[in-house]
Amino acid sequence: MLNVLVLHGPNLNLLGTREPDIYGTETLADIDSLLTTLAKELKIMVRIKQSNSEEKLIEALHSAREWANGVLFNPGAFTHTSVALRDAISAINIPVVEVHLSNIHARESFRRESLLAPVCIGSISGFGSQSYLLGLHALTTNIQSS
Ligand code: DQA
Repeated sequence: MLNVLVLHGPNLNLLGTREPDIYGTETLADIDSLLTTLAKELKIMVRIKQSNSEEKLIEALHSAREWANGVLFNPGAFTHTSVALRDAISAINIPVVEVHLSNIHARESFRRESLLAPVCIGSISGFGSQSYLLGLHALTTNIQSS
């Protein structure tokens, strides 16, 4: 059975009340529940983690080497700033799909660049919680066909 790490970055623990006009009213628990249901349908295992700390996110990526076949990652604001997370993704040799609730290309200019996208197998942005579900589908298909 495939194992996938779902990683949520900073401030995503506040979903539901955080800028609902941008991020919607679903909570992180709602999104996790949608992902768990989809994982059952796809017959894969998901482990889900959220951290506000760059260090913990890097450590989660490193540990994924030992058990995960792929990573679904919403890096939050670290998307636009973190060379360290980019290096971690490059180092682990596991396919990573980057997802965003909002369309980062339609927002402030500093959000339009992702330092991580070039080292991910693909990115999905702008579909709310559906971004995660589309990402999990794409990641699973990619792993199964490689
Ligand atoms: C986000 C987009 C980022 O620019 C922002 O910093 C977030 C959330 C998204 O899911 O739309 O925290 O990753």
